[in-house]
Amino acid sequence: MRTYLVTGGAGFIGSNYIHYMFQKYGDSIRIINVDALTYAGNLENLKEVEDRENYTFIKADITDKQAIEKIFAENNIDRVVHFAAESHVDRSIKNPEIFIQTNVLGTAVMLNCAKAAWEQPDGSYAEGKKFLHVSTDEVYGSLEEDGEYFYETTPYAPHSPYSASKASSDMLVKAYMDTYHFPANITNCSNNYGPYQFPEKLIPLIINNALHGKKLPVYGDGKNVRDWLYVVDHAKAIDMVQEKGRLFETYNIGGHNEKQNIEIVEIIIETLQEQLADNDPRKALVSKDLITYVEDRKGHDRRYAIAPDKIKAEIGWEPETMFKDGIKETIKWYFEHEEWMKNVTSGDYQKYYEEMYKA
Ligand code: NAD
Ligand code: DAU
Repeated sequence: MRTYLVTGGAGFIGSNYIHYMFQKYGDSIRIINVDALTYAGNLENLKEVEDRENYTFIKADITDKQAIEKIFAENNIDRVVHFAAESHVDRSIKNPEIFIQTNVLGTAVMLNCAKAAWEQPDGSYAEGKKFLHVSTDEVYGSLEEDGEYFYETTPYAPHSPYSASKASSDMLVKAYMDTYHFPANITNCSNNYGPYQFPEKLIPLIINNALHGKKLPVYGDGKNVRDWLYVVDHAKAIDMVQEKGRLFETYNIGGHNEKQNIEIVEIIIETLQEQLADNDPRKALVSKDLITYVEDRKGHDRRYAIAPDKIKAEIGWEPETMFKDGIKETIKWYFEHEEWMKNVTSGDYQKYYEEMYKA
């Protein structure tokens, strides 16, 4: 039975990936989820899988070398899928150090421990061992309003402490591949949306605020563009890269779905107005009047747009979920999971929100 070590599996994309993998492979794989359970990690995301015999959760920090070494020593790990990271750009602007700690040093620990466990005396690697580093399109910097796209060959030009830390971690993975022939892939994906996303990110934050009749903060002129991909399509791409991709390659993953932030906010408001039942008290609170333009993010990247040509040509992956369907499903998920939202927005979230939005 193949064993996967998933880091950051209690977060947004990691938990969706774990659900996807169990739906696809059932009892024929084993997953060990290693997560430090920071503010962004939530075991509630994994309630439906926690009793499976082929699933194990280990609370550990990826910067803790001894803990990670122990996991490799006690388990015959075949695949690593490395999601664990500090992932929010605004937090990186306020507090960059933890991003270097987790994203750069944590990745170094993961690489070192996997290499030590997998490398054979002659410098080759045991059959079938693979490491997949989950990265972001933000490493490529920012594009002008339209025309250009990010390709795998686009030079790195990160701007925020978050994207600089992810770019550094990508460089470490590349160095391991070049120097030690370490069996890895890197994927650089565009913005994900879907269930279980922490409401510090645009889409769940706007849904949650709208349902409570709170202001909907739009940075700057609201015309920054992101390329949105449904999270399950991302999970599928990661699996396909590990199954069909060429080792040592980077694959860009994107939704072919560019939207300005203000368009996203308007779609959320309109969809909530359509979907909420007339007798739902939240319906009366949702209004375009809540849109509030606020101070821009420092160093705000204008546009991201991925060209996913390589992954389509080599592996046959392309986005399957149309944005108009995925966003409706996502919005419905959030207003039907009020308890989940209540739990993640209690405590520390309030403090974060007040400091960030001066609200
Ligand atoms: P997230 O913030 O929702 O989840 C991150 C998870 O990592 C959490 O469960 C957290 O507890 C865990 N974690 C953080 N620090 C840790 C540490 N030191 N040790 C162990 N676990 C730790 O993030 P996400 O949005 O799910 O992103 C996952 C990965 O995908 C990240 O590497 C991110 O850079 C990348 N990515 C995200 C997007 C996106 O749109 N969200 C797009 C492209 C790439
Ligand atoms: O592109 C991939 C990246 O997408 C991932 O690597 C990151 O982990 C992920 O957080 C995301 O980064 P963004 O900065 O693009 O996502 P965020 O949801 O924070 O913001 C999306 C856009 O919306 C961005 O232009 C900033 C804007 N925004 C965001 C928030 C939270 C607002 O206008 N108002 C807000 O309150």
